[in-house]
Amino acid sequence: MSARLDSLPNYRRMTARDLDAVMSIENAIYPYPWTRGNFSDSLQAGYHCWLVECGGLIVGYSVIMIAAGEGHLLNLSIAASWQRRGLATGLLRFIVKLARDYAAGKIFLEVRPSNTAARALYGGAGFSEIAMRRDYYPARDGREDAVVMELVL
Ligand SMILES: CC(C)(COP(=O)(O)OP(=O)(O)OC[C@H]1O[C@@H](n2cnc3c(N)ncnc32)[C@H](O)[C@@H]1OP(=O)(O)O)[C@@H](O)C(=O)NCCC(=O)NCCS
Repeated sequence: MSARLDSLPNYRRMTARDLDAVMSIENAIYPYPWTRGNFSDSLQAGYHCWLVECGGLIVGYSVIMIAAGEGHLLNLSIAASWQRRGLATGLLRFIVKLARDYAAGKIFLEVRPSNTAARALYGGAGFSEIAMRRDYYPARDGREDAVVMELVL
């Protein structure tokens, strides 16, 4: 069960000025983090890049590409010390509404089979596991598959 938050989360668009804060979260929570270039390319490509803030502090973010009636959720992350408070659930709800507003009929994402927290998050939000992509991610012992998940909007 998630702990209570003292202040309501605020969602705002990510800009290049936010990348120091984003990278410090990204580098702390992933063994194979996105690079700064991945985020700046996403911003330049016009992907939907959003931050979640609590009390003015950046505590998480998400990147979704929406095109041709489909959304592809590329990144959704919450800073370690802010996890288990419902922030990812709220951010995901915000992103799902955004995808609907941009006329997406489905959202797809990939997740590591070992990432039980994320799989539970997405499953709880209504995503179904529809396929596996072999050797999708780098891993300590070679490569790790990806579970492909889909939400029909
Ligand atoms: C996965 C992640 C985004 C969840 O963020 P969060 O803000 O802690 O998630 P929430 O508090 O909204 O939790 C929602 C549900 O997810 C599941 N969950 C979240 N963290 C979990 C954990 N450590 N273990 C098991 N289940 C977990 C639970 O079902 C939870 O519901 P509950 O709190 O009612 O039990 C966060 O752990 C994270 O950023 N991890 C590193 C980055 C990552 O893996 N991103 C996803 C890549 S696909």
